[in-house]
Amino acid sequence: MASVSTAEFVGTDTSAQTSNPSASDYSGRVLDAESPAGQHFAALASLTGLPMFCCDSSTGEVLAHPEMTRVPVPPLAGQAPIASGEQFAVTEPESGVLQYALRLPTTDGSCLVAMGYALSSSDVQPVEVVMAAAESDWSQADFDAWLESTPHISRTLLERMLTLAVGELDHGELESSMLLEVEELTHQLQQTYEEISLLHSLTHNMQISRTPLELAEICVDRIESIIASVGTAVWIEQDDEDGRSVLVKGDLPFDETGMARLISEFELHDWSRPVVKNNIQGTLLGSDFPGLESLVIVPIAEGSNRSGWILSCNRQDGEEFGTVEANLLHSLATILGTHVRNIDLYEQHQELLIGFVRSLVSTLDAKDPYTRGHSERVALIGRRLGEEFNLPEEDLHNIYLSGLLHDIGKIGVDDQILQKPGKLTDEEYRAIQEHPMMGYKILKELRNLHQVLPGVRNHHESYNGKGYPDGLAGEEIPLMARILAVADSFDAMGSDRPYRQGMPTEKIEEIFERGSGEQWDARVINSYFAAREDIRNICESYSMSSCFVVPAGQMKKD
Ligand SMILES: [Fe+2]
Repeated sequence: MASVSTAEFVGTDTSAQTSNPSASDYSGRVLDAESPAGQHFAALASLTGLPMFCCDSSTGEVLAHPEMTRVPVPPLAGQAPIASGEQFAVTEPESGVLQYALRLPTTDGSCLVAMGYALSSSDVQPVEVVMAAAESDWSQADFDAWLESTPHISRTLLERMLTLAVGELDHGELESSMLLEVEELTHQLQQTYEEISLLHSLTHNMQISRTPLELAEICVDRIESIIASVGTAVWIEQDDEDGRSVLVKGDLPFDETGMARLISEFELHDWSRPVVKNNIQGTLLGSDFPGLESLVIVPIAEGSNRSGWILSCNRQDGEEFGTVEANLLHSLATILGTHVRNIDLYEQHQELLIGFVRSLVSTLDAKDPYTRGHSERVALIGRRLGEEFNLPEEDLHNIYLSGLLHDIGKIGVDDQILQKPGKLTDEEYRAIQEHPMMGYKILKELRNLHQVLPGVRNHHESYNGKGYPDGLAGEEIPLMARILAVADSFDAMGSDRPYRQGMPTEKIEEIFERGSGEQWDARVINSYFAAREDIRNICESYSMSSCFVVPAGQMKKD
């Protein structure tokens, strides 16, 4: 311990002051404990256990900090600069006195360092320190207190300790920054997952059987949470009386009429890109739409065919809408627009197909006027029987089309045979039996009618295998053909012919009961009995003189 005479110091005992220094002991500048430098300083002091004070190395000012419990010795002359790229420096300004300085992180360009002193051995005589303390008006008590609190440590150990402390802090900061980065990435990943999940859900539901409104419901339900909008609307143009359907989720600062007015404000906008507006209040638009802070509008379109709008208003977090939100809505609108267009094209295609089938059936009716209306009735009865099997709408439609076309092969049979009033010879009968294969050959090249072929080819098969043309039995016979066999038989037996009267329904039903499981599939016969009233109505509605073909859209069960 250094021996110093009190004569070298001025003033009286100020130990109370020195043990609890206030900011006024320093330059007046305070190191903000919450700042990066302040936190770094506290962490260094805590990790090393060394006494430290904070100093601005460019001005020599000492800054106050809650961690400093001792009045520091004013920095000695020749204060050690920290070499560029280094985190700390240890110098020996006087023999046996070690001065350490550690760089503190700052954001304002100032050069703050954490500094302190140690003695390399217990018998050090720090004359320069004594002189510096005396020049700073320290009392003997101040100096003794400083001397007592100053650690004795070798330079090597001190450097090792500082290296470990700096390393630990770097590691901690790296870990913190990585955690922040991971948090940010997790958030982005979650956002991306939500977006992909929504896009996947939409594309997964793009079947023709889904209406645009069903897809729009999926969108409107999830947009709100993904882009944090206060309100979202999907507007789909319709052919009905209102001319549109509007789905809304959340709160919009206007009603449907206001929405139409808002969209019309952008009549001249180039719709190849979305409308994105922020900070609307205080503008002309804001005065017309109170409560509207921000908005994104994208058109639902495929090419130049516009079929509606997606509109999101105001952010839940008060932030602005940007390209991320606009791009997501644009993708959704493109999917919806494509779906609307696909449905439109599909309907056009179906109309063309029905028109084509109608013209084929009318050709057959012209050739064999006695069976006029038979094809329509078989189609409708077949469809009704299919409903008993709970088949999907697409299958019911195919049964209907196949029923219309089931006898189309008769186009290739001699008119004399078709219209012969009396009993047919074996040869004539064989010619008639050619019609299922003939129909199959006529239609098989038409890709759009591929689905009706089983009914056309196999509607004269018997469940017991004694039918034609393929002699199929039981479940080998396509269900469509088993259904049409019952429908065809019912209508043929019940219809008048030039050479005989049609049978009464009771007689037909007796024949059905006897032939169930033999000529016909028992399940289809059971379906007939379950639906007999509807089938009777069908036959009454579509008399022999009828040549009306029901379009697909009008064939609902009710
Ligand atoms: Fe037939």
